[in-house]
Amino acid sequence: MNSPLTRFSLLLAITLLALALQGPARANTQITLGASCVTGECHGDVTAHQFLHGPVNLKQCQPCHEPIGGRHEFAPLTDSRSLCITCHEVDQPKAFVHGPFQTDCVVCHSPHGDSNRHFVKGGEGAASCTMCHDSVTRGMTHLHGPVAVGECLVCHEPHQSNHKGLLIDARPQLCMGCHIDVAHEIERAVVVHQPVEMECAGCHNPHGGTAAFFHPAEGPDLCRSCHGGFLEEAMQAPFPHGAMTEGKACQNCHAPHASAQQGLLGTDTMDLCLSCHSSEIRHARGTIPNIAAQLSSATFLHGPISERNCVACHKAHGSDVASILTKPFPREFYAPYKEGAYDMCFECHDNTLVLNERSTATQFRDGDRNLHFLHVNREKGRTCRACHSEHASVQPHHVRTEVPFGRWMMKVQFTKTETGGTCETGCHIPYGYDRVRPAAGSTTP
Ligand code: HEC
Ligand code: HEC
Ligand code: HEC
Ligand code: HEC
Ligand code: HEC
Ligand code: HEC
Ligand code: HEC
Ligand code: HEC
Ligand code: HEC
Ligand code: HEC
Ligand code: HEC
Ligand code: HEC
Ligand code: HEC
Repeated sequence: MNSPLTRFSLLLAITLLALALQGPARANTQITLGASCVTGECHGDVTAHQFLHGPVNLKQCQPCHEPIGGRHEFAPLTDSRSLCITCHEVDQPKAFVHGPFQTDCVVCHSPHGDSNRHFVKGGEGAASCTMCHDSVTRGMTHLHGPVAVGECLVCHEPHQSNHKGLLIDARPQLCMGCHIDVAHEIERAVVVHQPVEMECAGCHNPHGGTAAFFHPAEGPDLCRSCHGGFLEEAMQAPFPHGAMTEGKACQNCHAPHASAQQGLLGTDTMDLCLSCHSSEIRHARGTIPNIAAQLSSATFLHGPISERNCVACHKAHGSDVASILTKPFPREFYAPYKEGAYDMCFECHDNTLVLNERSTATQFRDGDRNLHFLHVNREKGRTCRACHSEHASVQPHHVRTEVPFGRWMMKVQFTKTETGGTCETGCHIPYGYDRVRPAAGSTTP
């Protein structure tokens, strides 16, 4: 206690304490700059960090704090940016510069040191960003993987970037850098959905959302945000299709990213349709039969169906024509003949088969007496459905074995011959027709 050195220390401590208690007066005190401003008693906090800034690590204060007139007085460091860039070269300004990077470095960086390598206040995770951007994840129930763990910097540059939104990479490479499975899906595909090539964020909020996959909207609304007009029309048509709204909506049939099928379809069109139409469907307007069963129990498949093309006749999204057909086709057993009424069939077949009373434009004739004309082209015409099934049949020429007549399933017994045929139904006694040896007036339905 009596050694000169301890006494000196004590004196010094008291002096310093006095100075400290004196407060502002200290500012005017002449100071002798020693080896360091950091001592056991002074400014210890400046170096009390796990990671120290280069000059602070060397106990150098003056590069940044120049005493005014040799006194313990320092100009406030209002322009930290100018200060920092005296030592740190800043790259040429890029296309997108973060607001605070242009004005103030110490809103983000602690000037002396911190608990992380880059002295970022709050750490290098989300905390430093959410000081200013807490709205980015507000109200979200589903957070995107990297956001959930606070890794803003896997996607963003803190200072500046050549990519809009301060992103570290162009879109959609930014996303595909991690979602390699999606990148492979796109590489392998025949058709890629245009927005997927441009902007993943059109359908996924990059930070999170209130729904799975962070979609900005749900069900068909997600797709309608871009495909509005055209879908509005289909979904409000007199005959909408249940597939548009039930289950996975658009995705019942379409892949959202890419596909091996034209039209971004999930699978081959026919498999797609049969994925639902392989069992009976009951709905408000009645019961729809099992189409898959219809096809598998048939001997003859109608041309477009052997080509697996259900949409040759049906509009998948909804239609103005019953049974969501692409063109008009009468729904009844009887219908007065008029031009256009059978456009569905005459899309592919020649309409001359019903136009003239005498003709060889059809095989369904007795001599040259056109039996298509006779049955169809009149005031109380039989529609095609009276004799033909539209999908598939057991009898040749897609002639039905039975046809609904009101609530009665009427049998149709058709026998084909070399040059004609006979037909026995509830409509009439067995009648025959023969193209070579006319059965002379045997048919008068
Ligand atoms: C790289 C530049 C730099 C160096 C080197 C530096 N400082 Fe600072 N210091 C700053 C800046 C900038 C501020 C203002 C911080 C703010 O406004 O948030 C500051 C603020 C301070 C303050 C005010 C209180 C506080 O912590 O905000 C003290 C005290 C201080 N420095 C002491 C020191 C001491 C002692 C040293 C040397 C060991 C030192 N500084 C070295 C840049 C530096
Ligand atoms: C007197 C020169 C000088 C000034 C002024 C200065 N720095 Fe530094 N800074 C350094 C040195 C030296 C290093 C250590 C370099 C190294 O380790 O590669 C460093 C390191 C850093 C690092 C860590 C970089 C890394 O790659 O690890 C950050 C962040 C940093 N400084 C930010 C700032 C900020 C913000 C300011 C302004 C408040 C500033 N510096 C002012 C000299 C300075
Ligand atoms: C919006 C917050 C923010 C602002 C403002 C900011 N920085 Fe940074 N800075 C960061 C973050 C976060 C990192 C860490 C980057 C990383 O981990 O890749 C960083 C890293 C650095 C580094 C080390 C890596 C490198 O890029 O060399 C330096 C040096 C640096 N900043 C200097 C500055 C300077 C100088 C300023 C002001 C002109 C500034 N920073 C402004 C957030 C900021
Ligand atoms: C001190 C407040 C502050 C902090 C901290 C901050 N920002 Fe910002 N940020 C802003 C302001 C102000 C803007 C708007 C001005 C602008 O467009 O640069 C902005 C804009 C942005 C933008 C939009 C840029 C654009 O072009 O649309 C992104 C992205 C961003 N900040 C990301 C971050 C990230 C990531 C962090 C954390 C590393 C962060 N910010 C930390 C203040 C801050
Ligand atoms: C997976 C990549 C990714 C991560 C991680 C990420 N962002 Fe973003 N961020 C984006 C993309 C992409 C955009 C641009 C969105 C756009 O332009 O529609 C964006 C935009 C922004 C914007 C400006 C537009 C807005 O939504 O306000 C801010 C601010 C922002 N991010 C902050 C953050 C913060 C803070 C974090 C960390 C909590 C973070 N981001 C994490 C990808 C990401
Ligand atoms: C740094 C890596 C990284 C980047 C970059 C990234 N993601 Fe992710 N993403 C993840 C991780 C990790 C998950 C969580 C994986 C999981 O839960 O299976 C995820 C999950 C997702 C999911 C939900 C998947 C699911 O099955 O629920 C979507 C959607 C998604 N990311 C889209 C994007 C989009 C869009 C972008 C670009 C804006 C992007 N990601 C960028 C890492 C990343
Ligand atoms: C047109 C809208 C749309 C766009 C654009 C889009 N997605 Fe998706 N994405 C979806 C939908 C819808 C799902 C949900 C699929 C499901 O229900 O199975 C999905 C699912 C995902 C998933 C999780 C399931 C999986 O396939 O791994 C990831 C990851 C994903 N998307 C990433 C991306 C990336 C990366 C991009 C940009 C390259 C992107 N998405 C662009 C609509 C989109
Ligand atoms: C961000 C806008 C956007 C969203 C959201 C969007 N699409 Fe698209 N879609 C487009 C654009 C652009 C095209 C290409 C131009 C065109 O054909 O109209 C396209 C084309 C298509 C095509 C035709 C592809 C082809 O090659 O024939 C289908 C099918 C499709 N989208 C379905 C969907 C489905 C299903 C969804 C919802 C999961 C959806 N889209 C959501 C923008 C979008
Ligand atoms: C029942 C199956 C099915 C459903 C459900 C469905 N689509 Fe389609 N979509 C198709 C088929 C099949 C095509 C191809 C049409 C063709 O070739 O005639 C198609 C074609 C498209 C096209 C390209 C149109 C064109 O003319 O180029 C877009 C865009 C589209 N669909 C969007 C949607 C959207 C959005 C939804 C949900 C609201 C949806 N689809 C629901 C089966 C479906
Ligand atoms: C996701 C299941 C699903 C898929 C896939 C599907 N459908 Fe349907 N379909 C239904 C349902 C449910 C109904 C009955 C309810 C309704 O239309 O409102 C229906 C009804 C129909 C009808 C009768 C419409 C009416 O007004 O009587 C036709 C024709 C039809 N679908 C054809 C198709 C074709 C062609 C495809 C393939 C492009 C297809 N469907 C794919 C579910 C599906
Ligand atoms: C050659 C044109 C054509 C093709 C190709 C076609 N259909 Fe049809 N489909 C029709 C016609 C016409 C009707 C209306 C029949 C009626 O009203 O009795 C119909 C009716 C339907 C119905 C409603 C049945 C009912 O009784 O309500 C379904 C479901 C259906 N088709 C599904 C399919 C599927 C699935 C495919 C592909 C395997 C397909 N169609 C291919 C012409 C076609
Ligand atoms: C997309 C083209 C297409 C449409 C539409 C179409 N057909 Fe066909 N049809 C064909 C093809 C191709 C054949 C020849 C292969 C076969 O026997 O099925 C055919 C054959 C037939 C046959 C059998 C001919 C024979 O002598 O064996 C009948 C009957 C028939 N169609 C009736 C109809 C009816 C009724 C409609 C309207 C509901 C219709 N078709 C609509 C393409 C079409
Ligand atoms: C009264 C029964 C009946 C009606 C109604 C009927 N068909 Fe036929 N159709 C037949 C018979 C039977 C054959 C087979 C003729 C033969 O090859 O011996 C046939 C053959 C056909 C063929 C093969 C080419 C031909 O002309 O021989 C087509 C195509 C066809 N019908 C379409 C239609 C269309 C379209 C309608 C409605 C506008 C229709 N049929 C109405 C009984 C009918």
